[in-house]
Amino acid sequence: MLWWLPLFFLQAPQMPDLPNVEKNPLSAASDIAYGKKLFAGRCAGCHGPLGDGGKGANLGVPKLQRAADDRSLYRVIRYGLAETEMPGTSLTQKEVWQVAAYVRTLGQLPREKALGDEANGKTLVRGKGGCLQCHSLGTEGGQLGPPLADVGARRSAAHLRAKLVSPGDNVPDDYRMVDLATSGGKKIKGIRLNEDSYTIQVRDAANKFYSFEKKDLTELKVEKRTMMPSYRTRLRPNELDDVVAYLSGLRGEQ
Ligand code: HEC
Ligand code: HEC
Repeated sequence: MLWWLPLFFLQAPQMPDLPNVEKNPLSAASDIAYGKKLFAGRCAGCHGPLGDGGKGANLGVPKLQRAADDRSLYRVIRYGLAETEMPGTSLTQKEVWQVAAYVRTLGQLPREKALGDEANGKTLVRGKGGCLQCHSLGTEGGQLGPPLADVGARRSAAHLRAKLVSPGDNVPDDYRMVDLATSGGKKIKGIRLNEDSYTIQVRDAANKFYSFEKKDLTELKVEKRTMMPSYRTRLRPNELDDVVAYLSGLRGEQ
């Protein structure tokens, strides 16, 4: 089974940086164990210790959207994903394969089973939870927070629950809360959609979109807080279970 090993090491120095192989050549148990260590140090900060999301994507899914085959998985880990927070890495080629081997095992871990009544969760999201005030589901709802239509494919049940009970623990770089005042005396609180050296684009709680030139602002505070409220006490424990079960089932098809 390990017939290729000597071959690999013989060829390693001449290999181009995007290896021309279809399958991960380093996925023995020892590679996976080493990949796990690398993952804990380099990736878990964003992807969570079990890869089930956080700031990064949920890697604990049977099929990774951006990395369905080993070659694309290598490419994503080595070079990152442009225009996202997923960075490239300085790991060696060998280490990239080892961490990739570990990432593949994450899709095979048993996921937290979302216990709860999906139908009631659906009602809560639209009613008592008031979630659509800020989130969209298909064509319904607001745009202050990220769309929820595919959130179950992107996030694990554990991450969804954490976001509901302590949303401030894990705030992404986009959707940051902004406090600003214009020289005309207007005060706005909202989320930052975009920012460059001269301008900033913001959406407020009434879903109104604004674009400002920074020179026209007398105050601009971008905070590491989220506008997402905590539902720790707003929903009863069984209602939280129901909402998590409903969100977990949202896979983008509606
Ligand atoms: C600074 C945060 C951060 C770090 C560190 C990070 N990632 Fe990511 N990663 C992300 C984000 C954010 C995404 C989702 C990008 C998107 O699609 O919007 C992502 C996406 C991915 C994907 C694609 C997921 C898919 O669904 O196709 C893989 C695979 C991945 N990361 C693996 C890793 C590995 C392995 C490491 C460590 C070597 C790592 N990441 C380090 C933030 C990070
Ligand atoms: C006042 C506006 C507001 C309300 C109400 C609100 N959210 Fe949020 N939510 C946000 C914002 C803004 C973010 C993005 C920033 C963050 O992740 O903290 C967010 C993030 C999330 C995320 C993480 C999404 C991701 O892609 O990781 C989930 C899940 C979520 N909300 C679900 C809900 C549910 C379910 C409800 C109702 C029970 C709800 N939210 C109510 C504003 C809101």
